[in-house]
Amino acid sequence: MKNIKNICIIAHIDHGKTTLSDRILEITGAIEPRKMREQYLDSMDIERERGITIKSHPLRVFYKSKKGELYEINIVDTPGHVDFTYEVDRSMAAVEGAILLVDATQGVQAQTVANTYKALEHDLEIIPVINKIDLPNANIEETESEIEDLIGIPRDEIHKISAKEGTGVEELLELILEKIPAPTGNESNKLKALIFDAKYDKYRGVIIYVRVFDGIVKPGDKIMIFSNRQTYEVSEVGAFTPEMTPTKSLKAGDIGYIIAGIKEVSLARVGDTITSAIEPIETPLPGYQEIKPMVYAGMYPGVPEYYEELRKALEKLKLNDSALVYKPDHSPALGFGFRCGFLGLLHMDVVKERLTREFDMTVILTAPNVEYKIILKDGTEILINDPAKFPEEGEIQEIYEPYIKLSIITPPEYIGKLMNLVQTERRGVMISTENAGHERVVLIFEVPLAEIVFDFFDRMKAVSRGYASMDYEFIGYRKSDLVKVAVLVNKEPVDALSIIAHKSKAYTVARKLVDKLAELIPQHQFEIPIQAKAGGRIIARSTIKALRKDVLAKCYGGDVTRKMKLLEKQKEGKKRMREIGRVSIPQEAFLAMLRIG
Ligand code: GTP
Repeated sequence: MKNIKNICIIAHIDHGKTTLSDRILEITGAIEPRKMREQYLDSMDIERERGITIKSHPLRVFYKSKKGELYEINIVDTPGHVDFTYEVDRSMAAVEGAILLVDATQGVQAQTVANTYKALEHDLEIIPVINKIDLPNANIEETESEIEDLIGIPRDEIHKISAKEGTGVEELLELILEKIPAPTGNESNKLKALIFDAKYDKYRGVIIYVRVFDGIVKPGDKIMIFSNRQTYEVSEVGAFTPEMTPTKSLKAGDIGYIIAGIKEVSLARVGDTITSAIEPIETPLPGYQEIKPMVYAGMYPGVPEYYEELRKALEKLKLNDSALVYKPDHSPALGFGFRCGFLGLLHMDVVKERLTREFDMTVILTAPNVEYKIILKDGTEILINDPAKFPEEGEIQEIYEPYIKLSIITPPEYIGKLMNLVQTERRGVMISTENAGHERVVLIFEVPLAEIVFDFFDRMKAVSRGYASMDYEFIGYRKSDLVKVAVLVNKEPVDALSIIAHKSKAYTVARKLVDKLAELIPQHQFEIPIQAKAGGRIIARSTIKALRKDVLAKCYGGDVTRKMKLLEKQKEGKKRMREIGRVSIPQEAFLAMLRIG
């Protein structure tokens, strides 16, 4: 086992993780570069196109050191997006070391720092590497200062490479052998393996990616998944070379895959422990958590008749995505659909996109919400993630909302604009600032999650001309002065249009709501008051004036066809209307409302 090295690569998007893996595969002669690219990159088109790899296959290569010894090196991927921090954590639990890869033209980014701290918590040996040194605009010295200041690694320990040209990559492999500790563990102990990823395959069922810590697993073995006590018979084990290649067994220290007839990924979740069904271990590996969605939204089929198809599509997606949760829901405005929970906004986009591409489904997503914790007057505690279901003001004792610690790394010239964005517009509070090198500042805030789920990332990029990067982590629920802004159309409450807002913003939100609605609801024969109510009082009002004449008055008597046409048209229009009391509200109005935050 001493000749195994297990590592992960920590890198910001586009800092060169894939290029470095390519080069390592090439140097170790694992596979021809061209074939590899097709292989390695096939997994998820959507992520590729967006430049975000959620996770790619691990790699196993053999490398003969300069001293002539043969080593097995396993490289595990870490997702590069804040939605997937738990997966990063579990990938790190599967290895002994990390390569911290920083692009010399871009410097250290917020997520790189967060992930490096995480690696330190896992006691990983870190090898800092500056990439793209071949580029004329590479700013090596500044990048060195940033790594030194932010992560506390002395600059003389930083290795420099060009993953593209191959400069320094072989030396990096030697450094891995020298610095990364060999895995510990014992083949003769009972089986103990960590699930650090799982994929669903149409033909083979779930493929579990594991790191074996103790014992051996081979085809024919009976295994048990610790958290749910389900048992399965192993049909295949193997390594990623990078394609899945069957092996006789996986032993303590190894990284590879297990196939055991598991039907869906939610039965073999990331972070769970695999042991022998015959001789199970008593305590699982530490750190297993059920992943909890952070962001919720209503999802409705573009055409109501496709509800059943949407249900089937979600069921299939769930096979491969244990983080997705959904339950049937109904909205008076949008009909039958689902209330879905996601890890974050990117996860939500990926699900929506996959529904379109893989299932040909167009869906309507409502504005994302967070989950509020409400203590009712009678002492019961409830969780609400749909504003329409918010209890009445009089029943509520206290409301709590999720808070995050937000870190932003930015060139100093954008500090003012970013502070304004977070503090003035988004209820954030600055906790600290810190210089990193000469060209970067780290800003730390505490902010309600609800304030960043909607368009924050784009706004941050806009005010910093794309230079700022962010990372966040959930820090807990905090008591908050929130109110439900309810809407009344012609004095009738319309639940689907309710919004949860902070008291300080309630008036502005209410004003926007009533004005927008007044614009979108067509005139009727009578006057329609549109009101917004919060804390038991009307806080904004707008009025839609009555129509003076009815439509037919335009056709002076005789022309029957024209009259018919007009009536037809009116009927068409009515189909997409929802009746609320005596008022017809077009569906577009509901959708537009759902996007006001
Ligand atoms: P994601 O998978 O999207 O997270 O990106 P990544 O970190 O895998 O980056 P990738 O390897 O795709 O590299 C991003 C871009 O940088 C590509 O256009 C590479 O060709 C380029 N690149 C990577 N390494 C180097 C390098 O050493 N020198 C130069 N000049 N370009 C590089």
